[in-house]
Amino acid sequence: MDQASSLRKIVSAKARQTPQRLMTPASPDSAISAPAPRAIAVTSGKGGVGKTNIVGSLALVLANRGHKVLILDADLGLANIDIIFGVHPKFNIGHVLDGEKTLAEIIVDGPAGIQIVPAGSGFTHLTHLTEGQKLNLLGEFEAFGAHLDVMLIDTGAGISANVLYFNLAADDCIIVATPEPTAITDAYAMMKVMFLQHGTRHFQLLVNMATSEHEAKSVYASLVQAAERFLSGVVIQYLGMVPSDHNVTRAVRERRIAVDAFPEAAWSRGINALADQLMDAPRRQHTDGNIKFFFKRFIEFRV
Ligand SMILES: Nc1ncnc2c1ncn2[C@@H]1O[C@H](COP(=O)(O)OP(=O)(O)OP(=O)(O)O)[C@@H](O)[C@H]1O
Ligand SMILES: [Mg+2]
Repeated sequence: MDQASSLRKIVSAKARQTPQRLMTPASPDSAISAPAPRAIAVTSGKGGVGKTNIVGSLALVLANRGHKVLILDADLGLANIDIIFGVHPKFNIGHVLDGEKTLAEIIVDGPAGIQIVPAGSGFTHLTHLTEGQKLNLLGEFEAFGAHLDVMLIDTGAGISANVLYFNLAADDCIIVATPEPTAITDAYAMMKVMFLQHGTRHFQLLVNMATSEHEAKSVYASLVQAAERFLSGVVIQYLGMVPSDHNVTRAVRERRIAVDAFPEAAWSRGINALADQLMDAPRRQHTDGNIKFFFKRFIEFRV
């Protein structure tokens, strides 16, 4: 038996032993609006296209609508989620991998019941996790009983193996692009790698920093055109656009989440429309009420 199959055996045996009381029942609201939980990766080819601000604002909109939201800060560079939420995590996922801390001990509370899992530098060696570290990761998420509706994953930019890990394990992969030509070509490069190397056929495109719906649609059209020509079988769904809005930077400077600081701003209307669109869409993968499913898929990948 190879290492991967023996690991899977241990994991499924462990899953059968998980006491039911660890699983808390779904809230009535989530039962109506989202059977959940749903792991949504927010990613991009090019850096600085707005992922972290989108994750922060979207998390707050969903949390204020009664959804239970967890953010996985998977950006291994700057800990931006910490900054926009004004939180100061002492520990990170590395402490969980090494068995020094439990997941509950590293999770940081944000506003409106949002929970944040800080990556810090803890995920740097994701592609080289030992079998013991993988079991720690799975075991901790398995025992994490809180029922979730949504897990938002703020990934780093680019097609590194770490970013691909998160994108491939998520139910939905939102690719953020802006009208800038390099952001469009880098978004295409991300889809190309995920399709050619891993068979991903379904992507969702969000155009940020657009000056008009027309401009956003032309970003979408150029990506669809390229995909039709060179990536036959790929489907790109247009999730909409979030306009360019100076209130975003204002909010960041004031250490506030933009949808909270400026609820009537164009940005906030865009994020609310995004939340509607996401929660109405059918989920792609069946999950069972806890987020261990995500990490199970996660550790089984060979990127
Ligand atoms: N719609 C918008 N209008 C105006 N400014 C925006 C908008 N979206 C994001 N920004 C600004 O763009 C900058 C980059 O945003 P952010 O840090 O969220 O991007 P990112 O994709 O997470 O970057 P990185 O790839 O470095 O993690 C920030 O200064 C932010 O305030
Ligand atoms: Mg970021």
